[in-house]
Amino acid sequence: MKNIESLNGIFRYFPHWLVRMIENLMQKIPSVKLMIDAENEKMMAPLEASLKPYRGKFDSFAALPATSRPRKTILEDIQKMNQIESDRWKDGYVSGGIYHGDQEHIDFLNQVYALHSQSNPLHSDLFPSATKFEAEIVSMVAGMLGGGTPSAPSVVGTVTSGGTESILLAMKTYRDRARAERGIYEPEIIVAETAHAAFDKASQYFGINMVKVPVDSNFKMDLSRVKRAIGSKTVALVGSSPSFPHGIIDPIEGLSELATKYKLGLHVDACLGGFILPFARKLGAPVPAFDFNLPAVTSMSVDTHKYGFAAKGTSVVLYRTPELRHYQYYTTTEWPGGLYFSPTLAGSRPGALSAACWAAMLSMGEEGYLRSTRAILDTAAKIREGLKSIPELRLLGDPIWIFALASDTVNIYEVLDQMNQRHWSLNGLHKPSCFHFALTLRQTQPGVAERFLQDLKDSVAYVKKNPSPNEGLAPVYGMAASLPFRGILSDVLKKYLDIVYKV
Ligand SMILES: Cc1ncc(COP(=O)(O)O)c(C=O)c1O
Repeated sequence: MKNIESLNGIFRYFPHWLVRMIENLMQKIPSVKLMIDAENEKMMAPLEASLKPYRGKFDSFAALPATSRPRKTILEDIQKMNQIESDRWKDGYVSGGIYHGDQEHIDFLNQVYALHSQSNPLHSDLFPSATKFEAEIVSMVAGMLGGGTPSAPSVVGTVTSGGTESILLAMKTYRDRARAERGIYEPEIIVAETAHAAFDKASQYFGINMVKVPVDSNFKMDLSRVKRAIGSKTVALVGSSPSFPHGIIDPIEGLSELATKYKLGLHVDACLGGFILPFARKLGAPVPAFDFNLPAVTSMSVDTHKYGFAAKGTSVVLYRTPELRHYQYYTTTEWPGGLYFSPTLAGSRPGALSAACWAAMLSMGEEGYLRSTRAILDTAAKIREGLKSIPELRLLGDPIWIFALASDTVNIYEVLDQMNQRHWSLNGLHKPSCFHFALTLRQTQPGVAERFLQDLKDSVAYVKKNPSPNEGLAPVYGMAASLPFRGILSDVLKKYLDIVYKV
């Protein structure tokens, strides 16, 4: 990939479409294609080894075993793999990912899951408990975010499988409403370039044009650019509360004013913030307005499986009115299989996950979420203070509990590599080059913040003494950040996914 990377300087100032055209032409030249394939192969071999650590250590099954495998053996294998994988996150070394993680909480959710493993909310007649759980989850989450107040009395929603599905569905809803009510067939939705990739996925899946606007120097969506981007096909605006990359809350109040003025929908992605910000505000933190208390907010995505501490696989999408929610639903009256209708993307769904989500929310209660939020905010304050003693690192923007760190003096990806070697799993980001650390309850355990700061200090000192940008993961991140040929990079990612599904 080095040869291709070296072309970067030449193409940096070319417009995007021209780079794409040159890339397409180059890939048609057999010798260039061969070179790209060979470079890809070289890069994939070590990746495959690291993605498949159990090869040779556990039996593998490319085909169905002819005879039944003893349940005891199956359970033993699963337990061993679980043990290997949970060591790192249990001790707080992992950014995001596992949001609660206390064994007692996990055991409780598992108990609930076991009781409901056969339930399916698609069959609401058979499993009225599942529909009870889902209706109450939605109602509780709406109530946390301004629903049920005089200005937003009828907030409704559905339970989905995760943040991505909540976002996909909200975007589809705006697309379908624009078709039905405004006759717009090529809808545009305005998002910040820092909005979650799920918005781009919605664009690809549903044929919506996502108009991306830049963020300002504080990594907040630039309102003046939003205003300029609004046109006759604009159907909705999107703001994050906060954004995944830098943990920054977009100016939702300003977006609400624009949405009111231009009669647009406004989706707030609170997948990360939905279970932190309302409680942070109650604890006295200066949280800007971001929810249904703002008059133009028409939908929100809120992840119960993040800071709501449910098991993985649930989120909530909320709408200001039941009429808007109707554009999300799927119904058919002509199918020989009968009258069919479902609220979300899936047909059959795991009722057990909704049961576990409901149980997690009840067992936490407001009191529990206030406690967890306080613990996370206190740890964040400690880390923020400690970062001041590492002048080589620059905190991006003014986040609350998700820290993106960049540097003007050391290669930040080498620092990330060093943190990896010290057992940490942080998220490498680009545009600009940085990595982030999303704090969860795991980091509120005694000593974790101190260990993080010490390891960070040591990593920076090591990189200053031993700069080696061509080793470890640093060159891969560097290439991803700088390679002009996004199509080639996209092919690399598809090959990565191919490996994931290799036995
Ligand atoms: C702000 C934000 N939105 C959406 C998502 C997507 O959530 P999921 O991974 O549950 O699909 C994430 C995930 O981290 C997120 O941080």
